[in-house]
Amino acid sequence: MRKNTLNQILQGDSLKLFQDIPDNSVDVTFADPPFNLKKKYNSYRDSLEFQQYLDWCEKWISEMVRVTKPSGSIFVHNIPRWLTYYVSFLNKFSDFKHWISWDAPTAPMGKTLQPSHYGILFYAKNAKNNKFYEIRYPHKRCRRCGYLLKDYGGKKDMLHPFGPLTSDVWTDIHRVRHNKYRDNHPCQLPIHLLERIILMSSDEGDIVLDPFVGTGTTAIAAKRLGRKYIGFDIDENYVSITQQKLEQEDSSSRIGNIWLSFFMKEPITIRNTDWEELSKNFVIPQDMKKIDYVKIRTDKKIIIPENGEKKDLPLFKNIELNNTVSETDLCPDCLSD
Ligand SMILES: C[S@@+](CC[C@H](N)C(=O)[O-])C[C@H]1O[C@@H](n2cnc3c(N)ncnc32)[C@H](O)[C@@H]1O
Repeated sequence: MRKNTLNQILQGDSLKLFQDIPDNSVDVTFADPPFNLKKKYNSYRDSLEFQQYLDWCEKWISEMVRVTKPSGSIFVHNIPRWLTYYVSFLNKFSDFKHWISWDAPTAPMGKTLQPSHYGILFYAKNAKNNKFYEIRYPHKRCRRCGYLLKDYGGKKDMLHPFGPLTSDVWTDIHRVRHNKYRDNHPCQLPIHLLERIILMSSDEGDIVLDPFVGTGTTAIAAKRLGRKYIGFDIDENYVSITQQKLEQEDSSSRIGNIWLSFFMKEPITIRNTDWEELSKNFVIPQDMKKIDYVKIRTDKKIIIPENGEKKDLPLFKNIELNNTVSETDLCPDCLSD
């Protein structure tokens, strides 16, 4: 890999830019291509003929597979319609792992069922060597009273304090809706979606490549998590927005020396293997049966691993962490369950 490609956002056609990326050199490739739905991009017409679009997709998908290391992973995000064709391309050169269903409303398509998920295909270059970490997300709770939404019956004391292992259906990550959090781009993905993908498929220092980086979501997630990134986009304006955003970012999405993903300053994705170490920074009810109405919370102090000293957690400065409800505070909906 050329040094001047790493940690760069390159402007140009992705098929051309791929030519400079050696075979088997990238740990994770992620693509969120134009969906051919006539979206208003700055410098790209999102309306190719059906077969023309699929032929183009097959080319960049095979480039993604070519540059991915034998231990690496390939992720492609799109609407189910196009993914059904992508599967047939990917099955030729790589190993299927998952079709992740990301629960998010999509545009109405005429006389059909209302589409309400995007798919993310997850392939291993070689399933035998694939680098993969199980991940966990926080227990889902009622927004009014904080009570656990799922009824675990008599098994509460066996619950994991942080939350369940993540399945292939993701319902806890929402699209970026408010304009104040959006760039001038028609389909920007949420950063914590990419952070989840990166945490489960790579380690610190690994290389993540996105051939349609838009306004930089994948590169920002990679930088926040201490990974290296490479991004391509055909649009000069998106490239410049991404470069400016990356200058404002640092690699600080961690507690102590453990990388994790935050949303609204709360942990949203952790690796299962990190919990033992991470748990030292959380306040957890001693009686796990109380987990249904007592939410674990991050201690405002974190343990510095080198010397065991406790120090303020920068992300939590000035935030009141008062998440505890008692049984008598339940809202009427949760009381009647
Ligand atoms: C769906 S958007 C990606 C959005 C991105 N995931 C984000 O969160 O910002 C697709 C991007 O592909 C870019 N694009 C379209 N054709 C391209 C090509 N041939 N080479 C490189 N980029 C291209 C568009 O400019 C657009 O930014």
